Amino acid sequence: MTKKLRIAQIGVGGMGSVHLRLSHAKNPRIELVALCDLIPERCERMRRELGREDIAVYTDYREMIEKEQLDAVDIVTPNDLHSVIAVYALEHGLNVFCEKPDAVSVEEALKMQAAAEASGKVLMVMRNNRYTQKARYLKDFIASGAAGEIYCGRCGWIRRRGIPGRGGWFTTKARSGGGPLIDLGVHMIDLAIWLMGSPRPVAVSGCTYSKFSGDESAADSEHAAFGDAQKGGTFDVEDLAMGFIRFENGACLQIEFSWASNIKEEKRFVELRGTKAGISWQGDGAEIYTEQNGYPVDLRRTDGDPSSEHDAALRHFTRIILDGEEKDYVPQQGVDMIRILTALYESAETGKEVRL
Ligand SMILES: NC(=O)c1ccc[n+]([C@@H]2O[C@H](COP(=O)([O-])OP(=O)(O)OC[C@H]3O[C@@H](n4cnc5c(N)ncnc54)[C@H](O)[C@@H]3O)[C@@H](O)[C@H]2O)c1
Repeated sequence: MTKKLRIAQIGVGGMGSVHLRLSHAKNPRIELVALCDLIPERCERMRRELGREDIAVYTDYREMIEKEQLDAVDIVTPNDLHSVIAVYALEHGLNVFCEKPDAVSVEEALKMQAAAEASGKVLMVMRNNRYTQKARYLKDFIASGAAGEIYCGRCGWIRRRGIPGRGGWFTTKARSGGGPLIDLGVHMIDLAIWLMGSPRPVAVSGCTYSKFSGDESAADSEHAAFGDAQKGGTFDVEDLAMGFIRFENGACLQIEFSWASNIKEEKRFVELRGTKAGISWQGDGAEIYTEQNGYPVDLRRTDGDPSSEHDAALRHFTRIILDGEEKDYVPQQGVDMIRILTALYESAETGKEVRL
């Protein structure tokens, strides 16, 4: 029989339930062994829902790692615990899959990278947008040279309203690392840089704003369901960020992220300009703008099943370990990402460009 990956999941909140329902419960190459959450009822509920009363339940991930014979853990906790738990698991000889963002500081991202190198185990952080079919299509198009030189672009995820877990860990800087810049920025900046061929960032400039933190009625979209809101809780992060990233090869990227702003509608986008074609990744598909025989031509590819992108990332993690598949994500990308994001926050505070 082919070997299965014995996995345990730490964190069974909003996103943790998505991992379980869309991925672990359906992946025949995964053996889900244990669940861990500070609130054990969340694990019990998922066990019942999945019809898997045999899965062990813990409230302390250290005890779970000690008692269970695991190959890997999947970390879906608040952001400030990503590095702490990942380092602990790697030091105990486990492979680690972790939700985004990689960490809440560069120091923590470096600790994760060092622990992965020392253990020789796999550390992969969620980059689900890379696994949309439209992203793969654009990546292949650019890699074929058909877009020419990619020299500039813009990306963003702008919500009209959609503040996750107001007053809880999402809006508490010490726990989340920041607002939409780290929460949403990690998705779209990663996608843009990955499509650009991973040029080295050299400088950033940013501005952040917090204009909706005092208005408790402003979290009125589906995204407000993420995290546990706390009435009268902390809100010391931005609700909007704008910025600019320069790369060593001369390319640049404009960025824009918001949880709340007075715009027409929510948008997720990556637009890149190449000398032969421009590309656009959007919520519902991918477009290419080019010229053929002197005529402007647009190509459009609609996405297949967008709900499968998180599962596709987790299946890639499984194949890296079980089949030796080449890694799509390496921890250096996480360190680079957190370096960019923290430098953008520093620039917003000082009002100056920050060299990386
Ligand atoms: N990739 C995506 O599309 C996506 C979407 C949403 C959230 N996320 C990420 O997923 C992570 C979780 O977000 P969420 O929305 O599920 O938050 P959440 O607050 O709903 O869930 C977090 C869970 O972790 C548990 N927890 C906290 N401390 C713990 C500990 N020490 N040990 C065990 N469990 C602990 C909490 O009790 C809670 O059930 C975050 O890092 C977030 O950025 C990713």
